Amino acid sequence: MMPEPLDALNAFLTWYRDLYGTRWFIDEEEENTPARPVEASAKLPAPEVPVAPTPVGGLEDYHQHIKECQICPLGGTRTNFVFGSGNPEADIMFIGEAPGRDEDLQGLPFVGRSGQLLTRILEMAGLKREDVYIANILKCRPPNNRDPQPDEIESCSPYLHRQIELVHPKLLVALGRISAHKLLNTETPLTRLRGQIHRYRGTPLVVTFHPAYVLRNQNAMADAVGDVKGIVNLIKTL
Ligand code: URA
Repeated sequence: MMPEPLDALNAFLTWYRDLYGTRWFIDEEEENTPARPVEASAKLPAPEVPVAPTPVGGLEDYHQHIKECQICPLGGTRTNFVFGSGNPEADIMFIGEAPGRDEDLQGLPFVGRSGQLLTRILEMAGLKREDVYIANILKCRPPNNRDPQPDEIESCSPYLHRQIELVHPKLLVALGRISAHKLLNTETPLTRLRGQIHRYRGTPLVVTFHPAYVLRNQNAMADAVGDVKGIVNLIKTL
């Protein structure tokens, strides 16, 4: 008798063959087709939303709708789903990487050491935390604060996208490399992305250091504050 996993594999292969036939590989001809030229500003198409249709409603309704998410394995290891916090009608929305230990425990973004530094940077530039909205690329903590994995980012990004639509900020601020690279669909080094106005699906976006980086490199503090002061000036023109 076939052991159980082989049964499952066999059933899958039969199903696949019935559906698609036996041609499983890309023809060489298709493989060599030249890439179609794209506009310089074109971005990859939006990922499909992996959840039931979004309810009509505000930000808090949306939070309630998605907070039990189990789409990726981080749903099984988190303590709390960290949706976001701040002014739901903010002009400026900051986007970090992923919750850390403190954020996972409290269910709020940027409440640990880097969060305290973010608050200080904002205040030194004349902003209050309550005036802005803060969220992350991932809503759940990666174990041991490891970098988010590409599949986790892909699963979570429809949530962030909808959240951005609901806050509808005038300006997005990517905090650090992971956030900037995901939102701008680029691998350009962070230092080259700073000081420019980019766009995420039409919304102006600027890039600055992640506060955790500033904690480790205190001489980046002046630049981080300078970036946020630039943001305060920029927002007046948008
Ligand atoms: N780092 C992040 O990127 N986000 C948080 O919420 C906390 C730390």
